[in-house]
Amino acid sequence: MADMKSLPVRTLLTPHFMWKRTRFWTMVGVAGLFVGVSGGACADTENGAMIFANICSSCHSIDKSNGIGPGLQGVISRAPSLEWIDKWLHDPDKVIESGDAYAKKLREGRIITMPTLKVMQDAANRQDVIEYLKTLK
Ligand code: HEC
Repeated sequence: MADMKSLPVRTLLTPHFMWKRTRFWTMVGVAGLFVGVSGGACADTENGAMIFANICSSCHSIDKSNGIGPGLQGVISRAPSLEWIDKWLHDPDKVIESGDAYAKKLREGRIITMPTLKVMQDAANRQDVIEYLKTLK
């Protein structure tokens, strides 16, 4: 009886099982590291889509039709750069004040202009929205 009880413990302590367990936990650790790293670096398109639906869609369509603001289909390829879009989303008036030619043309003759939005003061939110805009080809 005593022998049978001690058998599992002895089995677990054999080099083979020790190696298997170590390898298992090492793999869990490495996998966790990858999830952590990519999770931090990846933009969240779903968050971008949600922000768009809640805040941007009152002025912007996702096709080419203009509302209060221009339709945003294809905006990624027509705007000067991704950096420009990031700056614009952060503070439209600041881009206008910088004398930016593309922005000035965009604003020409408008009565209602794009406001500085609180949600766009967060760099990660801007990244997520830009990631969403990339889907509007
Ligand atoms: C109150 C209306 C309004 C809201 C809300 C709004 N915009 Fe705008 N947006 C505009 C207007 C108007 C313009 C045209 C430029 C100007 O005069 O401000 C513009 C321009 C843009 C442009 C440049 C378009 C182009 O053709 O190059 C982008 C990109 C953009 N908006 C994205 C967004 C995003 C993303 C949101 C939500 C986070 C948003 N806007 C919220 C009104 C709005």
